[in-house]
Amino acid sequence: MYDSGKILIGLVVFIGIVAFPFLYNIGTAVGKPEPRLDTPAILEMGDKKQCVESKEFMRAEHMRLLNEWRDAVVRDGNRLYTGRNGMKFDMSLQNTCMKCHSNKKEFCDRCHNYVDVKPYCWDCHVAPKENNL
Ligand code: HEC
Ligand code: HEC
Ligand code: HEC
Repeated sequence: MYDSGKILIGLVVFIGIVAFPFLYNIGTAVGKPEPRLDTPAILEMGDKKQCVESKEFMRAEHMRLLNEWRDAVVRDGNRLYTGRNGMKFDMSLQNTCMKCHSNKKEFCDRCHNYVDVKPYCWDCHVAPKENNL
């Protein structure tokens, strides 16, 4: 015979331990990341703030876009990217992405720390000197 009472208590304790870190984070600063968009270059754009592509696209696809850029530059020597809205950009991590997003720690890193990814790009590419307001 199983002692269902003890099993139930064990189960409740177990779930409590597993869930604790999640429950504990509710309502604390460790919640959803809020990447900041208040760099000088972005504020300069005034009402027409935009990225290379739409925000939704960037959120989902920026890693793939960066790979595309790297391949275009390194393999094909092509440096000019035309966005879906017709705007043109120099395909460069340092000179383009990080010119607008000059706050790596409060932008890129906030999301990446949250999902625990550590892009190794900065072993070679120079991260911006933090430039926030
Ligand atoms: C001309 C300035 C500019 C450049 C260049 C730029 N960004 Fe952005 N980025 C922005 C702005 C402004 C937003 C917010 C867009 C909005 O709210 O519609 C943004 C949004 C994003 C987002 C989504 C953030 C969120 O909260 O979901 C990601 C990710 C991103 N950019 C990554 C990049 C990467 C990677 C590059 C280079 C390939 C890049 N950006 C180049 C200005 C720029
Ligand atoms: C809105 C949140 C968000 C912002 C802002 C953001 N990233 Fe990311 N990034 C992610 C997520 C989530 C992943 C992991 C995606 C996956 O594994 O599918 C990722 C993955 C990456 C990767 C691939 C890493 C790997 O090991 O696979 C690169 C490169 C990258 N991001 C560069 C950048 C750069 C550069 C910036 C700042 C200009 C930036 N990201 C800003 C959310 C973000
Ligand atoms: C081992 C060193 C190294 C690492 C690590 C590295 N890169 Fe690069 N990357 C280079 C070199 C070298 C070039 C060629 C520079 C040139 O031709 O202007 C380059 C070019 C690029 C370019 C196009 C040119 C430019 O100015 O940005 C992009 C975009 C790029 N890399 C993105 C990335 C991303 C994203 C990561 C991380 C996921 C990464 N790289 C990791 C060495 C590296």
